[in-house]
Amino acid sequence: ARTVRRGDEGAVTVGGLDVRELAEEFGTPAYVLDETDFRARCRAWREAFGPGADVFYAGKAFLSRAVVRWLHEEGLNLDVCSGGELATALAAGMPAERIALHGNNKSTEEITRAVEAGVGRIVLDSYQEIARVAHIAKGLGRRQPVQIRVTVGVEAHTHEFIATAHEDQKFGLALAGGSSHPETGGGPAAEAVRRVLMLDSLELTGIHSHIGSQIFDMAGFEVSARRVVGLLSQIRDEHGVELPEIDLGGGLGIAYTPEDDPSEPHEIAKRLGDIVARECEAAGLAVPRLSVEPGRAIVGPTAFTLYEVGTIKELEGLRTYVSVDGGMSDNIRTALYDAEYSVALVSRASDAPPMLSRVVGKHCESGDIVVRDAFLPADLAPGDLLAVPATGAYCRSMASNYNHALRPPVVAVADGQARTIVRRETEEDLLRLDVG
Ligand code: LLP
Repeated sequence: ARTVRRGDEGAVTVGGLDVRELAEEFGTPAYVLDETDFRARCRAWREAFGPGADVFYAGKAFLSRAVVRWLHEEGLNLDVCSGGELATALAAGMPAERIALHGNNKSTEEITRAVEAGVGRIVLDSYQEIARVAHIAKGLGRRQPVQIRVTVGVEAHTHEFIATAHEDQKFGLALAGGSSHPETGGGPAAEAVRRVLMLDSLELTGIHSHIGSQIFDMAGFEVSARRVVGLLSQIRDEHGVELPEIDLGGGLGIAYTPEDDPSEPHEIAKRLGDIVARECEAAGLAVPRLSVEPGRAIVGPTAFTLYEVGTIKELEGLRTYVSVDGGMSDNIRTALYDAEYSVALVSRASDAPPMLSRVVGKHCESGDIVVRDAFLPADLAPGDLLAVPATGAYCRSMASNYNHALRPPVVAVADGQARTIVRRETEEDLLRLDVG
């Protein structure tokens, strides 16, 4: 969060509020989200891409009604990938035409709800889905705008579980691999285009590519853009139609540690815009409307998790284990992806020497690590507050009730005011689902 400062007795303030007061009022653990920063990032992306492009915020990173309202007000569109995300978006008043529906296995109910609501885009991910969406749209008397998600064959340098454009994974239809359709030539993506163009209830508006997540090297996006434009030109040659849109997905990395060096939205917009324009010019195509789908790059840096230290165990000659009141239930990313985070003592200043620490949670498993290696002051004590920055993306949205943990609230701060936008779960919430 941008508005973090050190104030009284060295305690950190965020959006003008002392973290000790936030902990007092909202309890710990809590996600503290800086609304001012969130809105500023939305504006930076909008302005960088300009009126000729669309920015779809990827709701999977973190979605709530307040977030949807902020996006709406800041002129962003929204990418949803489930009925639950769609319901949240519609409940908070996002106009349906500004919503895109994603997913590799959307249910009939999800597709029906999306078509009925009039979503601006459904991104098709398989042959079965082409037929399914066409059938549903026809039944509802609609012509549904769709894009086809292709896998461009780029090896993005990120964790295997979040890389999506190499061929051996579940998403999209491959550009390459003519062998799957030797009779028609081209790969599954070209075959999907043929099928969609034959269906009256589908309006093919463009091609979609998402190459992965937490990526710093823009080269992968450039290869992806080139290959997507290549497909547009193939479609023009084969079918005589020029598709008006391309979407290059999300995946721009953020700084979790000081070594990470992310690109700014205007650099990203310029590089993507330039390469698309250049490739289109070379192919003799009109430049299509570009869209992107950043999730992490918008919400990730805007929040931190506030924890209270409970127990401290010094293992002679090894390290000190600092246990906090949350853990893998509010941040699974360290355990799942080996993700790196930093951590700081935020409730007071300390001149004590640094001690090598591992910040762990309270769950019944030794992989329950929040920050693998960190230096914290040697005078750390139970009751101190720690903050783990950059937890706005994929932490609350991937939170679980493991060990019947109660998922933490999301507290939004702006202009010296704090308010709950997602409340803390209660034991009654847990028991309400348990009807046995
Ligand atoms: N568009 C599509 C089609 C996606 O699948 C995703 C992310 C995005 C956009 C947004 O990507 P972003 O800009 O946030 O990187 N749980 C993992 C990340 C999974 C990303 C899945 N798809 C993590 O915590 O790192």
